[in-house]
Amino acid sequence: MPAAGFSVSASAGSEFDAKITPIVVISCFMAATGGLMFGYDVGISGGVTSMDDFLIKFFPVVYRRKHETKESNYCKYDNQRLQLFTSSLYLAGLTATFFASYTTRNLGRRLTMLIAGIFFIVGVIFNGAAQDLPMLIVGRILLGCGVGFANQAVPLFLSEIAPTRVRGGLNILFQLNVTIGILFANLVNYGTDKIHPWGWRLSLSLAGIPALLLTVGALLVVDTPNSLIERGRLEEGKAVLKKIRGTENVEPEYNEILEASRVAQQVKHPFRNLLQRRNRPQLIIAILLQIFQQFTGINAIMFYAPVLFNTLGFKSDAALYSAVITGAVNVLSTVVSIYSVDRLGRRVLLLEAGVQMFMSQVVIAVVLGLKVSDHSDNLSHGYGIFVVVMVCTFVSSFAWSWGPLGWLIPSETFPLETRSAGQSVTVCVNLLFTFVIAQAFLSMLCHLKYGIFAFFSAWVVVMSVFVLFFLPETKNVPIEEMAEKVWKRHWFWKRFMDDDDDKTNGAYEAVKKAQP
Ligand code: BGC
Repeated sequence: MPAAGFSVSASAGSEFDAKITPIVVISCFMAATGGLMFGYDVGISGGVTSMDDFLIKFFPVVYRRKHETKESNYCKYDNQRLQLFTSSLYLAGLTATFFASYTTRNLGRRLTMLIAGIFFIVGVIFNGAAQDLPMLIVGRILLGCGVGFANQAVPLFLSEIAPTRVRGGLNILFQLNVTIGILFANLVNYGTDKIHPWGWRLSLSLAGIPALLLTVGALLVVDTPNSLIERGRLEEGKAVLKKIRGTENVEPEYNEILEASRVAQQVKHPFRNLLQRRNRPQLIIAILLQIFQQFTGINAIMFYAPVLFNTLGFKSDAALYSAVITGAVNVLSTVVSIYSVDRLGRRVLLLEAGVQMFMSQVVIAVVLGLKVSDHSDNLSHGYGIFVVVMVCTFVSSFAWSWGPLGWLIPSETFPLETRSAGQSVTVCVNLLFTFVIAQAFLSMLCHLKYGIFAFFSAWVVVMSVFVLFFLPETKNVPIEEMAEKVWKRHWFWKRFMDDDDDKTNGAYEAVKKAQP
């Protein structure tokens, strides 16, 4: 073991020398800014769309409706164009993931993050300076492209640069930064709401901070050894590996990456490969987890909390203030997940959260059903607080379960040969369903009223039953041993695994035998 460092074991159970070096720490900060940027975009739109100055400038119809007493409380914000402001980002993002999958593989993780940073900066300029709706939407689309590139490259970059034993924690660190980004956006909105008439411009422009950090970070760091080796830059890859691991003794890890990239290179069509029968369980689970994550209803809260609280009769200030509270609960509860995910396991967290989310949503539906009529002015103070507490109960359980695990589980279950393609399908499906919720929520609120929460709670039941029967536990299973230890032993999924020519495992076994 090298002095002043500590060694961590490889995913395969063999020991690789690795210190937590400054370069790894700097890389973590980088990933943080990618997550911050995504979170800021998620959190900023709800507050901005509830600001009068913003509505007067871009959505005068919504502004008038908001202040008309004859309009139903639930329908004040039901406007397709207003929803398009929020949702266009996700539509652009999911399109961008296909290009991002190409660039992460062929240009590397670092350049892909740089591309993301540049998209973000240009998008922020368009948004901050917007004179009309098209300019505003173009800005959101550019930000969406940034999200598509960043969410593909940053998690891969992190997983590859991190020593194996801290990889799970680092993965959730990305989600932690998403939640910090959301909270930061909520706080900014709370402050800028008081600045007339250009507070919203400041809200949209401050996204420039994480955007700049990501861009500068991408310029400063080195690409991952895996990516360099995959692109044939073997010597450079080995040198980087020595640098990031803080040791000269990198031969075993280098050989494993070399072999893994050889196997990966044999796969000429990663997306077609993904459709092979033996990859079916991971693919189905990755896709369903993304759909389920969005159908918990979390983004109804994250995007539209201020609008929602406004609908319930909270004044603008109180609505934004309440959004800050839910944002803070989101951050703190994600920390719970970092601590417990490798101790309690994925399934326990998801199942416990299922119960908690179901109960809080049903309670919210009942309170709103009984207490908020179409035209009454206010939810009483006591009930208002009660609803905020229930929303926090819901958000906290999401934040230690479906939030981080929706990203973690797909990233750890795909075999190496389809990991990158699997990641882009994951990001793409996630953004697609985020788009669906962003585009549909305010209309659904208008038509289903309080029933919207009953709708989401029914989904929570479905996803919890799925977890109970179909989601295997992956806690403490080395990443390259999933097929043997998880899929081949699962009562249902094992029928897909009878294919003996499992290239990744074969190659992996060969490397293991070759190692001293
Ligand atoms: C989801 C986002 C959501 C966020 C809330 C993430 O895992 O993918 O859609 O806004 O969690 O914290």
